[in-house]
Amino acid sequence: MADIESLLKEKRVFKPDSKFARKANWNKKTVEAYRKQGARKPERFWAKMAKDNVSWFKPWKKVLDWKPPFAKWFVGAKTNVSYNCLDRHLEGKNAWRKNKAAIIWEGEPGDSRVLTYGDLHREVCKFANVLKGLGVKKGDRVALYMPMVPELAIAMLACTRIGAPHNVVFGGFSADALRDRINDAGAKVVITADGGFRRGAPLDLKTAVDEAVAKAPCVTNVVVVKRTGEACSMKAKRDLWWHDLMADASSDCPPAKLDSEHPLFILYTSGTTGKPKGILHTTGGYLTHVTTTSKAIFDLKDDDTYWCTADCGWITGHSYVVYGILANGATTLMYEGTPNTPGFDRFWEIIERYRVTIFYTAPTAIRTFIRWGDEHPKKHDLSSLRLLGTVGEPINPEAWMWYHRVIGGKRCPIVDTWWQTETGGIMISALPGAVATKPGSATLPFPGIDPAVVDEDGKPVTPPNGGFLVLRKPWPGMLRGIWGDPERFKETYWSQYKNTYFAGDGAHREKSGYFWVMGRIDDVMNISGHRIGTMEVESALVSHEKVAEAAVVGRPDEITGTAIVAFVTPVGGVDAGKKLSGELLQHVTKEIGAIAKPADIRFTDALPKTRSGKIMRRLLRDIASGKESAGDTTTLEDYSVLAKLRESDEN
Ligand code: WTA
Repeated sequence: MADIESLLKEKRVFKPDSKFARKANWNKKTVEAYRKQGARKPERFWAKMAKDNVSWFKPWKKVLDWKPPFAKWFVGAKTNVSYNCLDRHLEGKNAWRKNKAAIIWEGEPGDSRVLTYGDLHREVCKFANVLKGLGVKKGDRVALYMPMVPELAIAMLACTRIGAPHNVVFGGFSADALRDRINDAGAKVVITADGGFRRGAPLDLKTAVDEAVAKAPCVTNVVVVKRTGEACSMKAKRDLWWHDLMADASSDCPPAKLDSEHPLFILYTSGTTGKPKGILHTTGGYLTHVTTTSKAIFDLKDDDTYWCTADCGWITGHSYVVYGILANGATTLMYEGTPNTPGFDRFWEIIERYRVTIFYTAPTAIRTFIRWGDEHPKKHDLSSLRLLGTVGEPINPEAWMWYHRVIGGKRCPIVDTWWQTETGGIMISALPGAVATKPGSATLPFPGIDPAVVDEDGKPVTPPNGGFLVLRKPWPGMLRGIWGDPERFKETYWSQYKNTYFAGDGAHREKSGYFWVMGRIDDVMNISGHRIGTMEVESALVSHEKVAEAAVVGRPDEITGTAIVAFVTPVGGVDAGKKLSGELLQHVTKEIGAIAKPADIRFTDALPKTRSGKIMRRLLRDIASGKESAGDTTTLEDYSVLAKLRESDEN
């Protein structure tokens, strides 16, 4: 709560610039009208958005069918996501977009490609035919494990064209994590590459796929994009080169007319147990949500060059690199690599060269840039920028001010957007032409969205108290479930309060209605804006033969937001020390991926537990962050354990 108090002292307010506001897609008047309608008749508001922003093959019979916690949006309607992202920009009054850049792609080594809407349409149709040729039918799942190359967007769109839900797995996950995600989704085909470029060197992906697919009997074929040109093994009959398949593919592939509730994709995210959740999104509602929010929040215009730095392996890449942006006929920039290759000014150099107008990134990245020094952005002309955004974690006011000053030249509005894998699209954010911003606050809910901050009994808390962030009404982009596990879906999000979605975040709401999201309150850590479950890391650790028990907590970190601290009890007779630490780090990397590596491993003879045997995480969190633990320790089983853990801290 100390965090909340310090944030509440933030008094700076930035009003929308009148020049920006005059040209904004949504001005103050529009927003006020939408807010009113969204509050009184949310279904009518969303129906208007669906009509205005999405093209349908067949209209809906009913806007919303809400049988908590199961929602159906635009019931009976038919549409297709790839049709909305491509074909409709090549028809009628939009036909001029045929030669407009859809994707501007920049590879890490400095190679680049531009795909116009005409090009992208052709490639997507061809790859959709390739998938059909491999026996992929409507409803079949396709797993994607790829670097940030145009083929990733092409493959995603091709899946949506034929109604095959994709399951994108971030390229930083290990072979084991990939195998679990392939098997859970039951994917028939895996699309990958020989590798991608990262930090100036080729990074292999195919070996992990081989390892994963060896234990994934559901997979019949693997399609491989040649990106790095490094040697890679190809298993006869099973593995096929992308370029070989595309050479013979027809570019004629009409979009499937899909039911509004047809599964669009599954994306795995960490929860509070060891097993990741396959978050399921469907077609019509998701498309309406991401298209509308992209247009309103990013103020997308035909002459914009929009760049979101997220990888398509995360929800931000799905909604705001690919779908929401292309559905608006805008130009999206995709970058393959890291921000410091070849130099610390890589992002700013890209912005200058392509005259990027809208830039969307994460607070962790911003804090890293601050540490690297102002000289890097200052070397470049960033005057093309007109709007900035952040996502993924709370942004501290100092980082916000730096972003505003050094990157935005004090002229760009900043939209701090709160949302989740589960929400599909942005839920709380400023609208750049209409809402005043405050550093550190995501400001107000999007029209038609109904968040609240409540206490344990579900009663709205009064400022200045904080509480749990919930959503009281269904929304079009909401998850439709957890793949194959309706019970877990109910339990995770809907069991705390009646008919109300539990987000798992702590928040505070000011009298003015502004939201301040404080971060996760469950056992999910937010590391550099990426969700990692404490249980996931714990199960990885205890699966190591030398580990008897492990407890994982987060501690605040200046750059990554949270850092992982693991308390480990080795099995008897094992030497705890640097060597074991190294082995465990390697083991976690193998089980999950490098993103889940603890920053700190502490060995202990025993973990502090309550009499009923529950690990006292609150105490561990205090120890990890170096705080004296003020909490109640009367239920602690063995007081000496706590003292020992502290001692190890001092050594
Ligand atoms: C956090 C990313 C504060 C939050 C789109 C949420 C934020 C989790 C913000 C979801 C923000 C995201 N301010 N916290 N603007 N945006 N979060 O599923 O804890 O990867 O629950 O989706 O990120 O992470 P996810």
